[in-house]
Amino acid sequence: MKILTTGASLNASSHKRAGKRRVLVPTMGALHKAHRELIRVARDRAGRDGEVAVSIFVNPLQFEPGSDYERYPRPEKEDEDFCRNADVDLLFRPAVAEMYAEDPAVFVEETALSKTLCGRSRPGHFRGVCTVVAKLFHILEPNGAVFGEKDFQQLAIIRRMVRDLNFRIDIVGVPTVREDDGLACSSRNQYLNAEERKQATVLRRALLAGAERAKAGEKSTKIIVDLACTTIGEASLARIDYVDLVDAENLQPVEVVRPNSLLALAVFFGKTRLIDNILIA
Ligand code: PAJ
Repeated sequence: MKILTTGASLNASSHKRAGKRRVLVPTMGALHKAHRELIRVARDRAGRDGEVAVSIFVNPLQFEPGSDYERYPRPEKEDEDFCRNADVDLLFRPAVAEMYAEDPAVFVEETALSKTLCGRSRPGHFRGVCTVVAKLFHILEPNGAVFGEKDFQQLAIIRRMVRDLNFRIDIVGVPTVREDDGLACSSRNQYLNAEERKQATVLRRALLAGAERAKAGEKSTKIIVDLACTTIGEASLARIDYVDLVDAENLQPVEVVRPNSLLALAVFFGKTRLIDNILIA
């Protein structure tokens, strides 16, 4: 496995000259089971002769002031071993100074899909995500890139960026990977104490309750959202940021359930904010 810390040390187009596919999995590290699945899908797409690249970069631009940028886990050695064991060909692990000039002045901003869901509670977050992903695409020149559906809005926004800025990169979505008790895997789960971790399983139950009610014929967004909120309310430590039912294409709220409706939520346990979603029709 090649490990690179600067864009300059990378002969970015070497894979293209060699006629190989490079597929990138962008991450912020603290790698877990879900990242492993993204790497597996990347290998599938790249082929045995192709290259799987993983980037690890805790991107300061996507953390709002006062959020968990400083305490975000950075287990460098474990992540490196993880990538080696996962048969990754190229690990790109730049420092902040490598990625950003002291006075960056150009950013990438998606202006439609970013308005709802997490975009509302985390202003500037998706601008940070788009900017860093665009930079990673330029530095690594992948043919494809893999993202998880747990971050459904992020995936939709990246697809929009690729469309609108003419990146010639296939974006591949991967279904949410879960722990045995249904909690979506996340690097942030390790912030939870034992009681919070136990209660966090309520998120999946709330989504399933909403989905089941919709399957039984309920069309009212209010009834489904209320049901999910009531279910979450059973967990004493949960504090709801949002529970919304949106159209999965444009992420705009829907008043009645229709095909391709997404039930999405963000809930705090203590200081830890967890997200999850489910397609309910
Ligand atoms: P990070 O949270 O490390 O996630 C990296 C990738 O793993 C993302 O595409 C995310 O959707 C996916 N992922 C995380 N947990 C998942 C789960 N339980 N199931 C499926 N996929 C999962 O997302 C980011 O980093 C950053 O915003 C990044 C895109 C790297 C830009 O900085």
